[in-house]
Amino acid sequence: MKKLFLLIGFLFCSTSVLFAQYTDYNTVKEVSVKNKGVVVSAFPLASEVGAKILHQGGNAFDASIATQYALAVVYPQAGNIGGGGFMVARTDKNKKFVVDFRETAPSKSDIDMYLDADGHADTELSQYGRLAAGVPGAVAGLFEMHQYANLPMAQLIQPAIDLAEKGYALTQDQADLFNRYKDNFVSLNENSIPFVKSTPWKADDILIQKDLAQTLKIIQKKGRKGFYEGHTAELIVKEMKRGNGIISLADLKNYKVIEREPLIFDYKGNEVVTMPLPSSGGILLAQMLRMTAMDGLEDKQLNSPEAVQLIVEAERRAFADRAEYMGDPDFIKDQTQMLISKAYLKKRFANYNPHKATPSSDVGDIITPQSEAKETTHISVLDKEGNAVSVTTTLNGNFGSMVMVSDAGFLLNNEMDDFSVKPGVPNMFGALGGKANAIAPQKRMLSSMVPTVILKDNKPFMVVGTPGGTTIPTSVFQTIVDIIDFDTDVNTAVNAPKFHHQWLPEHVMVEADFPNYTIKALEKKGYTFKKVSKIGRTELILVDKDGSYHAVADGRGDDSVSVE
Ligand code: GLY
Repeated sequence: MKKLFLLIGFLFCSTSVLFAQYTDYNTVKEVSVKNKGVVVSAFPLASEVGAKILHQGGNAFDASIATQYALAVVYPQAGNIGGGGFMVARTDKNKKFVVDFRETAPSKSDIDMYLDADGHADTELSQYGRLAAGVPGAVAGLFEMHQYANLPMAQLIQPAIDLAEKGYALTQDQADLFNRYKDNFVSLNENSIPFVKSTPWKADDILIQKDLAQTLKIIQKKGRKGFYEGHTAELIVKEMKRGNGIISLADLKNYKVIEREPLIFDYKGNEVVTMPLPSSGGILLAQMLRMTAMDGLEDKQLNSPEAVQLIVEAERRAFADRAEYMGDPDFIKDQTQMLISKAYLKKRFANYNPHKATPSSDVGDIITPQSEAKETTHISVLDKEGNAVSVTTTLNGNFGSMVMVSDAGFLLNNEMDDFSVKPGVPNMFGALGGKANAIAPQKRMLSSMVPTVILKDNKPFMVVGTPGGTTIPTSVFQTIVDIIDFDTDVNTAVNAPKFHHQWLPEHVMVEADFPNYTIKALEKKGYTFKKVSKIGRTELILVDKDGSYHAVADGRGDDSVSVE
């Protein structure tokens, strides 16, 4: 018996040596470094993959691709190959561009697809299960970005394959998350999935994802077609048929990435390069920066009642415009230039009253307080040549639709819920969806993601972004003004308590450690507040005056910086 135990012990040890599971990694929150590239992402192992790729001769594009593949394995709540996202980049030759790999509505979708027989919106259907999934854009986006990379794609995918095949140790947060969603995973999937086990997960348990490793190998071998055609595409369509899904083989084959011009504007001598439609994020950012500049934000104190009121009122007006004007620019009239023009914003802000809260009904007809789910993930990369890459990707909610494509090992997004599922008619909260963001086949759903690169004198100054649904533009905005207007250090800008207002609902969300004296002062002016646990998880790289790269990973999660 003893011998048997010894033998099992030996086999176990030799197996772990043979397969070298990824158990040994550290979270690094802040780094300042010269003449080396840096990667900041939501998970240490993913940042480490990106940094290693830089070390092997990759540039910021290589590193961000490898990090994204790795996040699909080690950060499955938001990292993905079954979702979509946006990249905003600036090359060392000062080319600025955007890769839009947002999901699209399947060709069988229609404006009423989530309405029941009585015309009521059924958000269960737009949020959970196969019908919630848009046609994924992530893999196509990675291949588009690869044109700017140095190393072969196969090399960039390999670390993710190793992580999936050999397994990695979960953090406490991840173990808690898997336990919390167990019932959803079981009810929404016909077959077993690797995130479900009979006993509760705990920190340091090993997660192995064999099917995902296999899918990544197919992509490694066959390229983009390894996802959008052949075996993987057939598995996706087979998964659709297990329920009410509508993504077809043709939808997958015809998915198109779009390379776009970024939205570029000046903010106090800094060139902000950010995300245009179909994300509302860049427009909101420009509007909020410009409106607060009109009332001298830089003369106020960080998180003081005066500063917070000004910011909240800018957010209120920007989000009211989001509801009315924003959607996929290939389907609606693009009014970006009007919306960010100083003349328009001056008029928009004319009814700002520093003595009292502006009622939301005074800044727009009460429509569309669309709330997006908060699980998304951001990567900031800056290499030593000055290639700056800012990528935000998403499945939408935590684990997206929670449906895993059987035998392919990846989750499908629930991005369809980012459309207005019922334009023009109040939902159960008395809120309406805007026509600009109504569902139509092949249309991209409106996003809030705002990956951003800021340049000063044509050189990178900041690479920034965050997850957080509708809180994304406000978090990025507050991080930028903390640095440029309030002159805070990088760590404070990322970790200072944040607040968020989105026109509707009327209250202001604040993080638990938000200063009470500000809340009390503003309550007297008619503002209401709601405490929430966390707003955003910002990944920021700032170039200091001496040229060193100062990177901070948000303290709100497992986020981590890694150096080349
Ligand atoms: N699903 C989050 C966003 O696109 O804003």
